[in-house]
Amino acid sequence: MDQTQIGQRVAQLKEERNAVILAHNYQVPEVQVLADFLGDSLGLSQQAAATDADVIVFCGVHFMAQTAKLLSPSKTVLMPDPGAGCPMADMITAEQTRQFKAEHPGAPVVAYVNTTAEVKAESDICCTSANAVKVVESLDADTVLFIPDANLASWVARHTDKEVIAWGGYCPTHVRINPQTVEFMHEEHPGAVFIVHPEARPEVLDIADEVASTGGMVKFAREADAKQIIVGTEEGLVYRLRRENPDKTFYIVPHTVCPNMKKTTPDKVLASLENMQYDVDVAQDVADGARRAVERMLEVS
Ligand code: 13P
Ligand code: SF4
Repeated sequence: MDQTQIGQRVAQLKEERNAVILAHNYQVPEVQVLADFLGDSLGLSQQAAATDADVIVFCGVHFMAQTAKLLSPSKTVLMPDPGAGCPMADMITAEQTRQFKAEHPGAPVVAYVNTTAEVKAESDICCTSANAVKVVESLDADTVLFIPDANLASWVARHTDKEVIAWGGYCPTHVRINPQTVEFMHEEHPGAVFIVHPEARPEVLDIADEVASTGGMVKFAREADAKQIIVGTEEGLVYRLRRENPDKTFYIVPHTVCPNMKKTTPDKVLASLENMQYDVDVAQDVADGARRAVERMLEVS
């Protein structure tokens, strides 16, 4: 089947199943165009909470689909490729979270949404890169524990008077962005501005014109006067940026592929709807605690 035939069959099945397709901004272009909603982690969770569809086909990585399931427990949540994980989310376990808390009694735990449901259940509140500062500021505490991303934690620490104690996790894709590459790209494209995701290293954020979630970057690209933009995040985002801003030029920092975000393909999306696979579930003993942390975040956002 070619892309057009897949698109037609997907549309048919979506109607039959009363399904909606949610996709993250890092998905490959041919999956992005199949989506009913394309967004960042925060937008996708808000969408998952609001939809009245019976079935959510989630094109992203596992923690995102799991979050959708937490927010819509009565709906069927499917992942076209259940092997799409997030290495950063696996950098802290529930047991390590409990130990971290025991080392810092009384300090609330802010869990980046890039965590497993088991870790969320051990946390006080979740955040995404779009609302991390707001979430930390909302807490009635002078010291907070921030897991698992040390780079996002250090970005938050720059914007709050609270003490932020970070776990040492990182995103293998974003830490590859280095300041020398960005400087080189500036020389190649004089006048371009540089936007970057807060999962990049602090020395990269230091030279950025804008630090934002992928949704924040979409907004920046739309509203900025700049006609040339160097983009420091996973390369999938530039397809959307180019499509929505044909009058602007985007240069992606090289070597910024998240292999897990590329696992979902149109034929897997079709198979997912055709066979109702692969079901995402959250164990009952952690679901309530994890949901509380995600819902608390949505109240703040
Ligand atoms: P956003 O929430 O900014 O889309 O980021 C998700 C992510 O996984 C970044 O690597
Ligand atoms: Fe995880 Fe990084 Fe991939 Fe985002 S880009 S899903 S944080 S590995």
